[in-house]
Order: sequence, then C-alpha cells, then structure tokens
Amino acid sequence: MCRYLVSVPVILMTVNTSIRIKDLVLKNPVTAASGTAGYGEEMSGFIDLSRLGAIFTKGLTLRPRPGNPGNRIIETPAGVLNSIGLENVGLERYVTEKLPFLRRKGATVIPNVAGHSVEENVELCGALSSLEDIKALELNVSCPNVKEGGMIFGTDLNLFTELLEKVRKATRCALIVKLSPNVTDIGEFAGRAEEIGVDALSAVNTFVGMKIDIRKKRPHFRNTTAGLSGPAIRPIAVRIVYRICESASVPVIGLGGIAGIDDMLEFIMAGATAISVGTMNMVDPGISIRLIDQLESYMASEKISDIHEIIGVAHTPKRQDGE
Ligand SMILES: Cc1cc2nc3c(=O)[nH]c(=O)nc-3n(C[C@H](O)[C@H](O)[C@H](O)COP(=O)(O)O)c2cc1C
Repeated sequence: MCRYLVSVPVILMTVNTSIRIKDLVLKNPVTAASGTAGYGEEMSGFIDLSRLGAIFTKGLTLRPRPGNPGNRIIETPAGVLNSIGLENVGLERYVTEKLPFLRRKGATVIPNVAGHSVEENVELCGALSSLEDIKALELNVSCPNVKEGGMIFGTDLNLFTELLEKVRKATRCALIVKLSPNVTDIGEFAGRAEEIGVDALSAVNTFVGMKIDIRKKRPHFRNTTAGLSGPAIRPIAVRIVYRICESASVPVIGLGGIAGIDDMLEFIMAGATAISVGTMNMVDPGISIRLIDQLESYMASEKISDIHEIIGVAHTPKRQDGE
C-alpha cells in the first residue's frame, strides 16, 4: 500500500494508490511496458525501480532469440514503428542473470511470455511459475513482428481459446493476457479470456503499420510491416480499454502513448486498474516516477482517498444532455 501525506489547504490527506491483481498487490498502478524497459538494467541508471508498481520485462522465449535482421525502429509523427522481433536472452539467462538483478533492485517483476507455439508458452509459464517470487505472468498474444506465434494467437479466436485454456492450467500465477488491438472487436477476445479464467488483461500492444523507403522504393522493414506505438495511438488505445471494460470485469492494464498525468487519468477513467508507460520511457526514462508523484498530488487535490474511486468512472452514468 502506498501512503503519502499531501498538504492541502486545511487537512492532511492520505491517498491509497495500491491495486491488486489476484494475489499480487502493486504499491501503485504505474508500470513499465514490456520491451521498452528491457530487463531494467539501463533504466536503473535513471530511476529507482523499486518505486514502480511493476516492470514487465522483454518478451521471453525458451531459447535466446537474436530478433529481426535489418532496420528495427524508426520515429514516426508522435511515435515509433518497431520491428524488434522479440530479441531476448531466453529462459535460462533470464532466470540466472536478469531476475537476480531485478530482485537486488527491489523491483516487482512481471515476465512477458512470448512463446511461438502453445507448447512453448505452456512450458515457459510452468517454469516461471515455479519461482516463488513471480506472482503474475503476462502472456503476449499480440506481437506483430514475428512469423510464428505472436499476433496469430491474438487475432484468431479459436487459437486464442486453445492457448489460454492450456496456459491457464499450467500456472498458479495471476495470468494477464496482452490482447492484440489488430482485431475487429476486442470485446470478443476479452470476454472469452474472462470465461477461461484469465485474471487480468492488458491492452494495447502495437498496431500494424508500415513505412516505405522512397529512395529504395521498398518497405523500410525487412518484415514489410512493423508495430506502431507512442502518443499517436493513444485515442485508439483509450477507446479499446473502454470497450474491454464493457465486455469483461477483470482488471485491465491500459497502455498506448501515455506521456503525462492527464493521459494516465484518461486510461484509469476508461476502466484501467493500472497503466504502463512504453515508448515514452525511451524519450524520458524518469516519466514513470513523475507519474506516481503526480497521481498522488492529483488525488489529494481532488480529495480522492483511494484510486478505486476513479477507476472506470467514465462509464457511469451516460449523459443525457448530448454534451
Ligand atoms: C521497441 C518496442 C519493443 C516492444 N517489445 C514488446 C514485447 O517484447 N512484448 C510486448 O508484449 N510488447 C512489446 N512492445 C509493446 C509495448 O509494450 C506497448 O504495448 C506498446 O508500445 C504500446 O504502448 P506505448 O504506446 O506506450 O509504447 C514493444 C514496444 C516497443 C516500442
């Protein structure tokens, strides 16, 4: 529980920003999005990782992956296109090198699991669940930059169902599923995940985009397409989080272009129990800590004693006057 004494004109106010996902209590709702904070090593030079609600580490596969060849990231208006292709150290080095570092820093870690097949995801989730301090896993069914697994699971309702049913049985951890925004109705996927017993949902991953190199007259990325993130996607991400909350009642971790306290509050009012900062970590690594402080100040100034008072408030009641 995060307790903070804020001076307001007459009284001292205590605000509670802690949230819960199954057995995992986060001291505040501000987390670092998978793939934008690596394994915390670079970021720890800028911020105290123990202050974050949690860090979602880079998408993990059983064996190390070198990622995609060729161009991997390029700036766009208000965002980036990336085609990293799940470069990661693999399970063994994750457990023996990366987790011990994060433990020493006092970070709350949520691994992002990104196997290529149902079997690989089941094996990864089973192995990670055997680690006592891992209380939650994020299953990534939404990476647009790999040829096997990834978004294929997140855009086909039958495959999605099969994967989630098997992974659900393989882990005691809180299971968070990171949905793909590249579907017609994300509400269908959210509802199905809840039926299967998933504990939380996160949204959004990146949107499929593309850049043409006009000098070469060819796609800029070797994979042709890439994933778009950053402030450019924020209004679509807010709409998606709002829609998920109409279709499922499990906690939602909202993300997509969060660049300041107002953005974060939009996601929370749309129904997100927690938020993640992604692309903006690469612009300003101190942003998450500022958001934690600003949230507490905002709550005190608005006399909101508990974060739950504002989660999803935009849903009720609908206004009748056309405004
Ligand atoms: C360079 C980069 C790498 C990413 N790698 C992953 C990943 O490994 N697993 C994952 O679930 N999402 C990954 N993402 C998606 C982000 O976690 C996040 O969902 C997305 O970027 C939207 O949030 P943002 O607009 O705040 O960046 C990556 C995004 C970027 C920009």
